[in-house]
Amino acid sequence: MHVERFLRRSGLIDWDGDLLARSRLDPELCRTLHVAALLEQDTEITVRQTRALGLDRVDDVAAFLPVWEAEEAEHARALRWLLSHQHYRPPQPHPAAISRRRRLVARVPASTVGRLSPTALVYCALGAAAEYVTILTYTELVREVDDPAVDALLRAITRQEGRHFAFFLAAARSRAHAISPTSGRLARRALVALWEPVGVPSLGIDAWTAQFGRLLDDARFRARIEGMDRVVDSIPHLGGLRLMETFLRARVPTR
Ligand SMILES: [Fe+2]
Ligand SMILES: [Fe+2]
Repeated sequence: MHVERFLRRSGLIDWDGDLLARSRLDPELCRTLHVAALLEQDTEITVRQTRALGLDRVDDVAAFLPVWEAEEAEHARALRWLLSHQHYRPPQPHPAAISRRRRLVARVPASTVGRLSPTALVYCALGAAAEYVTILTYTELVREVDDPAVDALLRAITRQEGRHFAFFLAAARSRAHAISPTSGRLARRALVALWEPVGVPSLGIDAWTAQFGRLLDDARFRARIEGMDRVVDSIPHLGGLRLMETFLRARVPTR
């Protein structure tokens, strides 16, 4: 089962602090990695929200959560260590948006707790979509790196995001197969209402666009990111939503 597969290869990534401390990176890349580190750290907020929803009562998610949180926290630690040895001007994420997200933890509607199966489906589908975009983003950033230690770190993080993605997608599909068409429609509506690209809830749309817009100017990368919609399409009940395509067209028009 997907959770055993996930747990078999769990563990914190290796990174070489001495080599990373000696690397020199382009300031623009540092700013993007700075934001990436904040988002990695924000996994702890997501985990709190997950527990508030009662999803830690669901077997596979309960086993996944603490491992996932620890692995993402290590990504944040490694990136912060790397960045602490670089010279760059840190970007200013939108502080109001961040505190809004932190406050949201307290506002999870109690009504959702009684409906664990569609809620878990939506949660896992959102997780799969987020991890997928994260993988593509790190893969893109690796192309900007010529330092071997930084390259190894970003590749190690990317491989681990691949495991997270595999868990979320398999967990979403197994739930989707088990629920009724009515629950499926509920999940579909919830996904449309709740989905935002990774980072938007933490940063706010303006800071997010300032940070990731430069990557999305590249038509090739943009097309790959829109591939997220095919991932969601592959989950029963959730086909044809075109979340990323609709978002990019409205909020990040091509220049
Ligand atoms: Fe991560
Ligand atoms: Fe991840």
